[in-house]
Amino acid sequence: MSEQTAAPICRSAELVDGGLGVRFSFERNGGTLSAFVVRHDGKVYAYENACAHIPVELDYRDGEFFDLSRRYLVCATHGAYYAPETGVCLGGPCAGRRLAVIGVVEHDGAVWLQDPDPILKPLN
Ligand code: FES
Repeated sequence: MSEQTAAPICRSAELVDGGLGVRFSFERNGGTLSAFVVRHDGKVYAYENACAHIPVELDYRDGEFFDLSRRYLVCATHGAYYAPETGVCLGGPCAGRRLAVIGVVEHDGAVWLQDPDPILKPLN
């Protein structure tokens, strides 16, 4: 386990399997990107909050990333759905494309950015 200098994205208990995700933002290359983390089959996965079809945010309400089955991530705009464990689009206008992965790790009861790059840091 590496030293963590940044604040955690969220506490582990905030992420219920197939439940609401936690939105966060971070800085990269001088810009601020929107991202989210969810729990699926017990593991945490994070992606940039941008559809692979058109770069709009996926959630129709803050944190609502899963479809009704709670098994797939879905874009609220045109319905693309994604495998939570890979970010690959399984159906919709961008089938075969994928969400941009954000590396996260879970330990000490919290979820953290994995990338030690100092320009990649949680803002909230
Ligand atoms: S913008 Fe997400 S499916 Fe088209």
